[in-house]
Amino acid sequence: MIKQAIIPLAGLGTRLLPLTSVFAKELLPINGRPGIEYILDECIEAGIKEVIFIISKKKKIIKDYFYKDSFYKKIIKKKKDPRILKEYQKILKYKKMIKFVYQNKPLGTGDAVLKTKKFITDNFFLMLLPDDLIIKNNCSKTMIKVHKRYKASVMASLSVNKKSIPRWGIYKLSKKLDKKNQFITDVVEKPTINSAPSNKAVIGRYILPKKIFLKLQKQKPGKGGEIHITDAIQSLINDNEKFIAHSFLGKYLDCGSMHGYIKSSMEIAKS
Ligand code: UTP
Repeated sequence: MIKQAIIPLAGLGTRLLPLTSVFAKELLPINGRPGIEYILDECIEAGIKEVIFIISKKKKIIKDYFYKDSFYKKIIKKKKDPRILKEYQKILKYKKMIKFVYQNKPLGTGDAVLKTKKFITDNFFLMLLPDDLIIKNNCSKTMIKVHKRYKASVMASLSVNKKSIPRWGIYKLSKKLDKKNQFITDVVEKPTINSAPSNKAVIGRYILPKKIFLKLQKQKPGKGGEIHITDAIQSLINDNEKFIAHSFLGKYLDCGSMHGYIKSSMEIAKS
């Protein structure tokens, strides 16, 4: 079973400036709740027992959100407001399962993952990118089932329109396992439209093997000078490690850009 999840949160969030000049984007409200709480609820419902947050000193506000509870305690004593008490209990529940590690230089997602190396105990773990919300279906829960069934690593996949291909990690697919799952032979970071092997893009849910740390330790920066997790995945695929692209049910919301962030609140309010 998959019991541990990691969440990289140490990026700069430049696409959400000016908001991110003083605030962590993962705490911005989406329909009244910090985005990160949707991600934590997805983990809990999928059976995850421990979540490792990769943050930076600049994003210490995320740790404060879960750990600084003196304000709650003071107000609860004074006000006896059941809503506040409920919120506090929810925070305590999250706090119990979260560990923090630091990545103070944003060298890329691969480098962020490497920071969790000594905390991962099982052979496989889940990774969620918090900019990617998936509503109406628990993608992590389904991917854990797929992992169990096929004994392989699994990544979420979405068909994207051709024009947007250069923004994504794109899959080259091989054998179909069933309607929703297909083996991957390549994953290419931000290809040109003409060189892209498909229009199936990597979305921020991954079940990764612990072996990936061996690759990340040796990995050189790739496109844009960053250490990409997709490059480490490609290296594992080259060693015959099995990876499956899972076409998830549910609706994908991109909260990492200003347009997507605003749209996400409206979509969640509607759902
Ligand atoms: P992105 O590159 O998509 O987002 O990283 P960003 O860097 O936060 O924001 P922009 O692009 O400047 O607007 C995807 C995820 O990986 C994390 C980010 O926090 C985000 O959740 N990340 C990225 C790290 O934790 N460390 C890194 O070095 C890079």
